[in-house]
Amino acid sequence: MANPYEDIIENLTEAVISVDPGSHITVFNQAAERLTELSRKKALGKTLSDIFSLDPWLSEIAGKTLADETLYSDYGARLHRRFSAPLTITVSTRRLLGGSGELTGVAILIKDVSAIKSIENEELRKDRLAHLGTFAANLAHEVKNPLSGIKGAAQLLSRRNKDKDFKKLTDIIVKESDRLNLIVCEMLDFTRARKPVKRNLNIHKVLDSVITLVEKEAESTEGNLLIAKAYDPSLPEVSGSSPQLSQVFLNLVKNARDAVLEAVYKDKKAPRSPRVTVTTRLSSDFKIKQPPGDDENGKKTFALIEVADNGIGIAEKDLEEVFTPFFTTKRKGSGLGMGISYKVIKEHSGYIKIVSRPGEGTKIMVYLPLGASKK
Ligand SMILES: Nc1ncnc2c1ncn2[C@@H]1O[C@H](COP(=O)(O)OP(=O)(O)OP(=O)(O)O)[C@@H](O)[C@H]1O
Ligand SMILES: [Mg+2]
Repeated sequence: MANPYEDIIENLTEAVISVDPGSHITVFNQAAERLTELSRKKALGKTLSDIFSLDPWLSEIAGKTLADETLYSDYGARLHRRFSAPLTITVSTRRLLGGSGELTGVAILIKDVSAIKSIENEELRKDRLAHLGTFAANLAHEVKNPLSGIKGAAQLLSRRNKDKDFKKLTDIIVKESDRLNLIVCEMLDFTRARKPVKRNLNIHKVLDSVITLVEKEAESTEGNLLIAKAYDPSLPEVSGSSPQLSQVFLNLVKNARDAVLEAVYKDKKAPRSPRVTVTTRLSSDFKIKQPPGDDENGKKTFALIEVADNGIGIAEKDLEEVFTPFFTTKRKGSGLGMGISYKVIKEHSGYIKIVSRPGEGTKIMVYLPLGASKK
């Protein structure tokens, strides 16, 4: 008769991996196969360092548990997988003892906690936005007045003194005051819990004006930048505020532009042609938890707008930070664009997702609810 414990271990939702005192894998249950994307056949008999070469810490903690009494328990570790992105896990180790108390191996228990992690990130982000709100309101108030004083004085000076070099300097003061003012205004946007005034609108019109603006700007500075459009002409109207959505897509397209320019600049030897593509289509495959009664199987149809670039991409460690206010990797960035975009899209009951491959490019996906159909 099969050992009943085997069935239990096999059917646990936690991944169970055990190794013998020589560190060879002796148990690799179904959940372990699922989580690591490795088959049991491949794993059994191998050592942990053979199988988890990208996560040497796993064989280290097993080794330490074998060597002494150390038991490990780690919340929020990262486990690399064969095909998919790394997973956030909790991991703990147990010593396995035989009938007469002798050490027969170590069991490693692994649990997928990525869902919990992403909820925590969401909470953290909300918290930071709320704090930033009060802080920004005060700061903006204190900064805006002296700033307009500085700008006014610089303009006055420039009118009184016609010297060319002098004017260059006063122009810098005026320009930089404007930039500061803009940052402060953007910060203020966080504080005002402005509910968007939503109307049915043609998102292609919003995108067209954003694209024209960025292309015009590129013409006058770094040269031509082609922004390709791949619109689904049958896309229904979305429900939203046109100025707020313009702000979102302007930031996304500008970020894409910055990323491709940076890639061109970094990769002088093998220049790639910079490419930014804006795609629209209907998406009904987006499963989310709906309030009860909204849709029986949790599916809802959204308009999906994708801004894709073949730029520098986002490093894995930065991916969770891009929506955090003031996070920027740019010399002149304020780091507010994505934070504002996140907030605006949330207020539109939409979603924003990022897929990025460092060195290859980024795709930002914005899901917006469709407008009420006119009948
Ligand atoms: N398409 C992209 N490709 C590569 N990195 C990106 C992309 N979009 C955003 N990022 C990263 O996210 C960071 C934050 O973006 P965000 O728009 O919030 O600020 P910023 O562009 O740095 O400054 P600002 O938009 O305020 O001028 C960027 O500095 C960059 O590192
Ligand atoms: Mg930006």
